[in-house]
Amino acid sequence: MSSRRELFINHVAQTSELPLQLEVERAKGMYIYDTQGKAYLDLNSGISVSSLGHCHPAVVEAIKKQSETFMHTMVYGEHIQQPQLNFAQLLTSQLDPRLSKVYYLNGGSEAIELAIKLIRRHTGRYKIVACRNAYHGSTLGAESLRSDTEFTRAFLPGIPGIYHIDFNNPEELETIDCRTAGIILEPVQAESGIHPPVNDYLKMVRSRCDEVGALMVLDEIQTGFGRTGHLFGHHKYGVVPDIMLIGKAMGGGMPISGVVSSVEIFSSIIKNPALGHITTFGGHPVICAAAHASLEHILDTGLHTRVLEKEKLILELLKHPIIKEIRSSGLMMAVELTRRKYLKHVVSKAFELGALVDYFLFNARSFRLAPPLIINEEQIRKGCAILLEAMNYAENRYKKTNN
Ligand SMILES: Cc1ncc(COP(=O)(O)O)c(C=O)c1O
Repeated sequence: MSSRRELFINHVAQTSELPLQLEVERAKGMYIYDTQGKAYLDLNSGISVSSLGHCHPAVVEAIKKQSETFMHTMVYGEHIQQPQLNFAQLLTSQLDPRLSKVYYLNGGSEAIELAIKLIRRHTGRYKIVACRNAYHGSTLGAESLRSDTEFTRAFLPGIPGIYHIDFNNPEELETIDCRTAGIILEPVQAESGIHPPVNDYLKMVRSRCDEVGALMVLDEIQTGFGRTGHLFGHHKYGVVPDIMLIGKAMGGGMPISGVVSSVEIFSSIIKNPALGHITTFGGHPVICAAAHASLEHILDTGLHTRVLEKEKLILELLKHPIIKEIRSSGLMMAVELTRRKYLKHVVSKAFELGALVDYFLFNARSFRLAPPLIINEEQIRKGCAILLEAMNYAENRYKKTNN
């Protein structure tokens, strides 16, 4: 009989030659357990997904209940389904009144695709501005927003009309002009290695958009649902986007995403042509029930309001000579090392010691810390102790090989 690893290599498509191959048996709370019974402290949340930890009872219960009531009935937002209403009502009650409607989809990239269509259709313009070193997803439209041509040229041609500017550089905001449909950016740029906005950058983007009639789209797919210490990143940085994109943590571990905007902007996909964007599974009732349970739990317990004190404790504990700096916004953190060579040793040693951290797409010196928001003080101390040990290892190894 083939081993699990063989089956995985032979029959599940991978995207790199060196997959991590953690054999997952089960996961609960802050921990993922492998088939040998080894526990891994999850300091990544599957990249900002499992904010309530794994298999949160409230989410599991909601899934059970809804799956016994009804699952899929009809696509394209034609049927009225209570779980969709519950989530949309709860979510929009937390937002500026202009963000009053949710279009449900299945994943972050899909939300980007709809945003691209909405801003083009609503403004009648096709130029789109995006930020260099941002990642918005792997579908063709979302990939076209990427700035690294080394990557995108492998999949050419992308969609036309994309212009890039540097995040946090107000001087480039003039690229947003009267021909621009909109700008798509994150409140905190994640994949470049966590760059929060500085000097009211997002407010400057907002006013430039207003000046030229372009729409501001905030991709809150990583920052949403409490990760930055506020329910949404735009709350923290004092702006209201025209369109907000959500995903990742939205479903409490289940796949769902959404585009949140105004009645007016969504009217552009209702007629001329009708069915301007459709989806078979977006807003699946079982997943909407999970999303509702997850958001309700965050709001009832004020989980997001305790994120900043957890961030502070991590910043206090993580002190090591090979750390150059730590950039963070709540529990979205990048630990930048003094040498590039340390990185893979820190990540793989932490794995061996039972803690999961990850790389960034566009930063070869930093590792990612994005633990579930439920992490407690003891787990923070344990996680940081493992990371410090992994950094000792990386430093000693480097010394040995360079003497
Ligand atoms: C900021 C951001 N936007 C969009 C996406 C794409 O989401 P998905 O992988 O669900 O398509 C990601 C995924 O990592 C992301 O980090």
